[in-house]
Amino acid sequence: MFDRALLDELCDLATRVRTLAKSEVGARALRDLLPTRRAMLYFTQPSTRTFLSFNNACHILGMRTSEIRDPSTSSEVKGESFSDSIRTFSSYVDVIIMRTKEAGRAAQAAKLMDGIPRPVPVINAGSGSDQHPTQALLDIYTLARSFEPRGGIDGKVIGMMGDLKRGRTVRSLCYLMRHYEGVRLVFIAPPQFAMESDIKAYLDEHRIAYSETTQLSTVLPQLDALYVTRMQTEWDTAGESRAVDLKPFSVGTHELTLMKRDAFIMHPLPRGPEIDPLVDQDPRAMYWRQERNGMWMRVAVLIKIFGVERIVTALAAADGQPPLGGRLA
Ligand code: NCD
Repeated sequence: MFDRALLDELCDLATRVRTLAKSEVGARALRDLLPTRRAMLYFTQPSTRTFLSFNNACHILGMRTSEIRDPSTSSEVKGESFSDSIRTFSSYVDVIIMRTKEAGRAAQAAKLMDGIPRPVPVINAGSGSDQHPTQALLDIYTLARSFEPRGGIDGKVIGMMGDLKRGRTVRSLCYLMRHYEGVRLVFIAPPQFAMESDIKAYLDEHRIAYSETTQLSTVLPQLDALYVTRMQTEWDTAGESRAVDLKPFSVGTHELTLMKRDAFIMHPLPRGPEIDPLVDQDPRAMYWRQERNGMWMRVAVLIKIFGVERIVTALAAADGQPPLGGRLA
């Protein structure tokens, strides 16, 4: 559903609100944008960042939120079907934001909405090990912001490392790479956790260059950004993750010496041992900023969904923000 114009617009909106929120006047104006709108946060799979950033994104816009995080407290334990539960949420709120352990559930909920008289938008906040689209949007925003002094994302070499097979963030990010010219992807993973063939077929189909390796140190000097991910141990059925020596797929102070001086490191978090906390001190560590970018990008997504982007642009102009025109401040 995304194209380059929409991605650029969302990045611009995220920058607009990030800047507006710095002043008391701007923060109050944002809070007055959607005070009559309500969101349902239906998160039946563990979440810290995505839940909190969506919850706070809603509050930044003056929205109210309700939540179900533990399915044992919902009528699903009485045997209510998934569809009936989703339809019920839709009766009370204006948007459903959902994360589930099963792949495809958000798409199923959205399809259900297409067939009822009072549909509400559904946002996928992570579906199984399949997709995590809003994470991909905040990752694009982080890449765009960080590459801004170097002409943006086009033409950059981006490494993705770790459990690429079961990590949904890298899968969604690969999809969005289609909208950037001349990007080259380098997958760095243990062979048993290599990127799945459906994503590689997608990249082939859209002529996005990629290569695969198990040798981080060989490729590290070429990378403009390295996106690190953790082992997705929760999907293990027989201790598969423990069988992997994670050391060659980790970043410590030694790896920093091999990286370009203006390259940077991203991670969707939570992190495991794959990034040494000592790396946090390095200016190339971008993951804490990436985490906060998530909140601004989710504000931008809600602004777009509720169609108030023109008001935000007017507020930004009144605040003295110069036109961005696809470029980031
Ligand atoms: C990611 C997720 O849940 O997929 N976390 C997040 O949303 N920031 C990454 C992960 O859990 O590894």
